[in-house]
Amino acid sequence: MTFTSLLTVFLLLAPLATLAQGPAIFVGADLQLGVRLIVDNQCVACHQRKVGGDGSAIYQSSGRINSPGALRGMIEQCNMELNLALFPEEVTAISAVLNLEHYQFK
Ligand code: HEC
Repeated sequence: MTFTSLLTVFLLLAPLATLAQGPAIFVGADLQLGVRLIVDNQCVACHQRKVGGDGSAIYQSSGRINSPGALRGMIEQCNMELNLALFPEEVTAISAVLNLEHYQFK
């Protein structure tokens, strides 16, 4: 996904975020920061190489990522494995964006 298409998705979802803040652990997350970090860290590019399409097929809300905590835990794990050196609030920001766009945990 290009930055523009990610941004479009984000802008479409932003009003939803204000209506329903979603899971407590993502309340107050910096969604713009999350979108930027997803672009900057090549998350989508690598997922596209694995699953094709826009890469979103890698996100399986009915798989082992089955709760907001599991989602955030997965991002934290990637953070360490890929040596991204993300701060905790950055991990939360990325998780909140992926939740809005794909997992939609309440
Ligand atoms: C070098 C390649 C690569 C990069 C870079 C990468 N990922 Fe992944 N990611 C994968 C692969 C491969 C899987 C599937 C792992 C598996 O199924 O065990 C995965 C799985 C995931 C999952 C779990 C999907 C699910 O529902 O089971 C999430 C969430 C995720 N990545 C987020 C990210 C984020 C956020 C970033 C950027 C900060 C990122 N990934 C960067 C390769 C990558």
